[in-house]
This record gives sequence, structure tokens and C-alpha cells, in this order.
Amino acid sequence: ALDPRLQGISDAIRVVPHFPKPGIMFNDITALLLRPGVFKDAVDMFVERYRGMAIAAVAGIEARGFMFGPAIALAIGAKFIPLRKPGKLPGEVIAEGYVLEYGTDCLEMHVGAIEPGERVVVVDDLVATGGTLSAAIRLIGEYMFVSPLANNIVQISFLKSSFIINTP
Ligand code: PRP
Repeated sequence: ALDPRLQGISDAIRVVPHFPKPGIMFNDITALLLRPGVFKDAVDMFVERYRGMAIAAVAGIEARGFMFGPAIALAIGAKFIPLRKPGKLPGEVIAEGYVLEYGTDCLEMHVGAIEPGERVVVVDDLVATGGTLSAAIRLIGEYMFVSPLANNIVQISFLKSSFIINTP
């Protein structure tokens, strides 16, 4: 059975047609952030999933992964790693490009943010084509923790957008 909190989360995400371009259905999670109870439900669901799983790091994808990732990281006792758009990180970086629904972009991560053998959870506000999340996984590469949990597909279709973390 689906977690009853999912319906509230789904209802709190505002869908804005034709933003930022014609034809794009923009799932706006800022509406969810205005409702502390629902915001907490969203964070709690991921905390419950990943607590006790020896997760060393939560990596958040700019920009909206930064709105959920740190809260999850603090709650599970993990470090937080920002995966940033190009040119924002001051240290040595590794980079991965990707194709978006509306354009192309690139993610960068500081070298040394992740140690070999660490388990990393990647956080973003939603998945559309999956290009962004795929780039994050390539970036983290062999250190990526692929969760055995299989309920993300259900969440994606149910929520329309998902605070998805792990991928097959
Ligand atoms: C959005 C969203 C995800 C990505 C999902 O970010 O926050 O990161 O697109 O799309 P995909 O699954 O097709 O890759 P956006 O590119 O708008 O960047 P922003 O959060 O910095 O505005």
C-alpha cells in the first residue's frame, strides 16, 4: 500500500503549464515548501527510508535538491555535498554534462567530497527525463550507492514528480 503521506505531497505540488517554455508542465515544489507539515512529511519519508543504512553522504542537485538534501542529511547523520551548475565551486571539480527537457546543462562536484566506498544518496526535487539524475550518478561513479528499494517507480507515477534519490 502507498504511504498516505504521498497524496498530501502530490496535492501540494503546483503544476504550472507552459513554464519555462511552451509545452513544459512545470512541477513547482515551492508550494509544498510553504506548508511545513507537508514539507516535513516529504523529508521524513526519505529519512525513514535511509536512516540506519550507513549512508555517508547526501548529494543535492542544484538548485532544488538543495531545498531537501540538507534536511535529510542532518536527520540521518550524513554529510551534505552540493552538485552544482558549472563555475560555482571554487575547488578542483569533476563535471558531467547532460541533456534536459529544455536545454543542456552540466553538474560539477568537488574532488574529494566523496571517499571511496562511501554510500551516497542523491536528492533532487523531481525527475522528468532522468537526464539530471543520470548525470549525478555518472559524476559519483563507482562510489554511487544503488539502493535495493524498488518503490520509486510507484512514487514517480503517483506523484507526477518525486523527491527521488536512488535509481536502478
Ligand atoms: C529541474 C529539476 C531537476 C531536473 C529534472 O531542474 O529540478 O533537477 O530539471 O529534469 P530531468 O529529469 O529531465 O533531467 P532545472 O534544470 O530546472 O534546474 P534548476 O533547479 O537549477 O532550476
